[in-house]
Amino acid sequence: MLELRDVSKSYATPQGPLSVLRGVSLQLAAGESLALMGESGCGKSTLLHLAAGLDTPDSGRIWLADRALDAMNEAQRSALRRHRLGLVFQAFHLVPTLTVSDNLRLQARLAKQEVPDWSVELLERLGLAKYRDHYPEQLSGGQQQRLAIGRALAVRPNLLLADEPTGNLDERNADDVLALLMELVVETGSALLLVTHSPRVADPMNRCLRLHHGRLETIEP
Ligand SMILES: Nc1ncnc2c1ncn2[C@@H]1O[C@H](COP(=O)(O)OP(=O)(O)OP(=O)(O)O)[C@@H](O)[C@H]1O
Ligand SMILES: [Mg+2]
Repeated sequence: MLELRDVSKSYATPQGPLSVLRGVSLQLAAGESLALMGESGCGKSTLLHLAAGLDTPDSGRIWLADRALDAMNEAQRSALRRHRLGLVFQAFHLVPTLTVSDNLRLQARLAKQEVPDWSVELLERLGLAKYRDHYPEQLSGGQQQRLAIGRALAVRPNLLLADEPTGNLDERNADDVLALLMELVVETGSALLLVTHSPRVADPMNRCLRLHHGRLETIEP
């Protein structure tokens, strides 16, 4: 579903180039779940952005759903994202002028692959049904986070990229949301690449990798 081959990425900074990823390779099969860990600032979000085709590597190649990202133009990458990917960012990027229900359905509608019953079910299972006609600013941080997860899953993605999807929740709510996320991922058959600082969150994933000094290391369970 996702492959990175020898991917490197650096950013230009006033102090000179900052090398963040130094030859990162990984493969994620359909239906597989992977936790990505590592210290703050080590490049986890950078890796997710590259995997989503939102940024381009300096060298190396990335395949998403068997298509090489560098062989596509921006419009093609954007269409691939819309149809195949669920994205949960550290900042939720909810649309303030749309209701909870319309936010949840937005990507699925744009991709013309909304399954109305599934959207309703997601709202219920994420505990958002009674807020369906509210606006994001009327939600708590944890509710916004659940809505961001719902929006990503409404499209029934082939791959879900989630950046600290339970970062704003207390431990009990985080466990609940994570359990639900795993359930939904299994139901949709989606692959999952999840960034987390929490070993508790990483525990139920099939594999766990740590990004350290620009390289990936396997963490044994
Ligand atoms: N657009 C940018 N320009 C310059 N430097 C950047 C840019 N984006 C990120 N960085 C730097 O690259 C490094 C990796 O950032 P990244 O956001 O990928 O880290 P992270 O592992 O996701 O951290 P966190 O756990 O805090 O979210 C950091 O040192 C950051 O300051
Ligand atoms: Mg980050």
